[in-house]
Amino acid sequence: MAERIIIDTDPGHDDAFAILLALAAPDLEVLGLTTVAGNVPVATTTANARRVVELAGRPRVPVFAGADRPLLRAPMHAHDIHGKMGIDGYDWPEPARPAEPEHAVDWMVRTLAASAERSVTLVVLGPETNVAMLLRRAPELGTRIRRIVVMGGGFFEGGNYAPAAEFNILVDPEAAAIVFGSGIELVAMPIDCTNRTLTPASWIPDLKALGTRVGDACAGMQGFFQVAGNRKYGTTTRPLHDALAMAWLLWPELFRGRLCNVEIETRSELTRGATVVDWWHRTDRPRNCLWIRDCTDPAELYRRMLARLATL
Ligand code: RIB
Ligand code: CA
Repeated sequence: MAERIIIDTDPGHDDAFAILLALAAPDLEVLGLTTVAGNVPVATTTANARRVVELAGRPRVPVFAGADRPLLRAPMHAHDIHGKMGIDGYDWPEPARPAEPEHAVDWMVRTLAASAERSVTLVVLGPETNVAMLLRRAPELGTRIRRIVVMGGGFFEGGNYAPAAEFNILVDPEAAAIVFGSGIELVAMPIDCTNRTLTPASWIPDLKALGTRVGDACAGMQGFFQVAGNRKYGTTTRPLHDALAMAWLLWPELFRGRLCNVEIETRSELTRGATVVDWWHRTDRPRNCLWIRDCTDPAELYRRMLARLATL
């Protein structure tokens, strides 16, 4: 039975890889994409989500635009990493189909209300604003959610967009606090894991060698996406953070983590957005999150990812 998923996303280069990976997975049923302001404004993340589903040859996968700003704070974008339109590096056509007219949160409520208990998985690849709004709008529908897999956070690795915070959590810490405090089964794919799971040196040639539009688009995106990160980290390749969150769903056996308490700092201006991980179980706070610490075989992971992308 394929796992029914909703992808909440701010495409974003690594979001695009995650979406393509999901659409290529026979064991995942993508019910739809909900977009959020994050890497770039929500109008652009929405158009990009449409571009990616059409690139995958799945134009009927619905895309719903969501929150255009965090719950409380001013929007924050990452054009320095993702460029002006968010998935720069390829000559993208305009999307052929528009996004759906319904607001993302309204559609999530309607979809969960029509779903059985614990039957829908949320894969959250950007700031968690939409999911927080969903949980505040219809808390009783939390039991329809099987699990929430988020790309976000950092503890052993520190932060990537602030000294103590990873971008997705930093943009909307209040939303993350609602999601992490929901009591729903939660898996976090933090930069603790992703920053140590870099794409192989041959990744771009491997993608080009697919000889497909998907391969060409992914090669172009990777080339653009890794410039800023390589300069900042002194690396030669970069990890596809969001695609690793999706990969956990497909191949959890390739990852190691620990169930522990994770709380979100929302008050301090110095450490706002920090994910405070009680890795050594020093407190009796609820162990609300499976915190993924590393990937046991990055080469195998990206080999599997390439094989799935080759099917599109
Ligand atoms: O910190 C990495 C995360 O922030 C990824 O989801 C990337 O797409 C950006 O949203
Ligand atoms: Ca993202």
